[in-house]
Amino acid sequence: MEQIAFFDAKPYDKEWFDRINKDFEIRYYEGRLRPENARLAEGCKAVCAFVNDVVNAKTIEILSKLGTEVILMRCAGYNNVALNAAKDKLKVLTVPAYSPYAVAEHAMGLILALNRKIPKAYIRTRDFNFSLVGLTGFDLHGKTAGIIGTGRIGKVFIDICRGFGMEIIAHDPNPQDIEGVQFVEKEELFKRSDIISLHCPLTRETRYIIDDAAIALMKKSALIVNTSRGQLIDTEALLSALNEKRIGGAALDVYEEESGLFFEDNSDKIVTDEVISLLVSRPNVIITSHQAFLTEEALHNIAEVTLQNFKDYLDGKELENEVKAKDS
Ligand code: NAI
Repeated sequence: MEQIAFFDAKPYDKEWFDRINKDFEIRYYEGRLRPENARLAEGCKAVCAFVNDVVNAKTIEILSKLGTEVILMRCAGYNNVALNAAKDKLKVLTVPAYSPYAVAEHAMGLILALNRKIPKAYIRTRDFNFSLVGLTGFDLHGKTAGIIGTGRIGKVFIDICRGFGMEIIAHDPNPQDIEGVQFVEKEELFKRSDIISLHCPLTRETRYIIDDAAIALMKKSALIVNTSRGQLIDTEALLSALNEKRIGGAALDVYEEESGLFFEDNSDKIVTDEVISLLVSRPNVIITSHQAFLTEEALHNIAEVTLQNFKDYLDGKELENEVKAKDS
């Protein structure tokens, strides 16, 4: 039976992969994959990795020498994989779509929580504080949603915003004909939007797409939501804008320095990352720990497609979920 070395394994991963797996022996490792522990994959033709595993050139070199042939990313994004280094050494397979609904619904959940101050209200009422002072939000109906990236998730998010009666504008280098959506340059989107939601991948072009200059164009009341990748936002610029009240608020499911922090319980540790420490303390910031994908449907689909990717590779089938250097 072929073996898979499965890194950064969490209880929910094990539950869903064990439910679906019938063909492979899966060796679960709790640690994140990095050059220092890549040797754990010895004897495994496949390595299964996630968003914060360090799949850099060094890791790839070690894995390739150990006989690993495939990296099974159990996620859509692959910005943490050195695709150039993988070329000619290993195949890199992803799960391009497991539930765009999971991510888009979480994005809207974050906006509602931020705008209507639901976490604050919840904490108050648990303490029998039924005051409404400071909880005022604004109607989403009639406001403008600016969507950056209109792929699978962006499109579902557009539908959700439409349901709320919002005006929708979007920016994407590949604009499509989407009913009721006006495609604009990103500068115009920054100027006009009441909420801005990021649904583009992290690439050289999109890194820090939200920087100081972008924020300077935005309404002072604008809410920024990021369920895509942390490095789409220059977090220090965002923090300064929040401090100087140049922006209405931010809801972040991802953070540029999330690796080593997110997905883990750090509640009994001294977190020395001052940027995130200041962000969590702001009343107009909500942070979730890269959980937008976390629904039963998504976990089921991730396990199914990841294992099917490996089967297809072993059966010599065409690999429709392979990503190569030119795609990055
Ligand atoms: P997709 O590939 O279907 O769509 C991405 C869209 O972004 C495409 O339409 C593309 O043309 C557009 N795009 C590319 N460069 C752009 C730019 N410079 N400006 C504006 N748009 C640009 O991807 P999908 O499935 O919609 O996922 C989007 C992102 O969501 C992923 O790349 C990933 O980073 C993130 N994600 C986050 C999850 C979470 O749990 N927080 C889970 C799954 C995905």
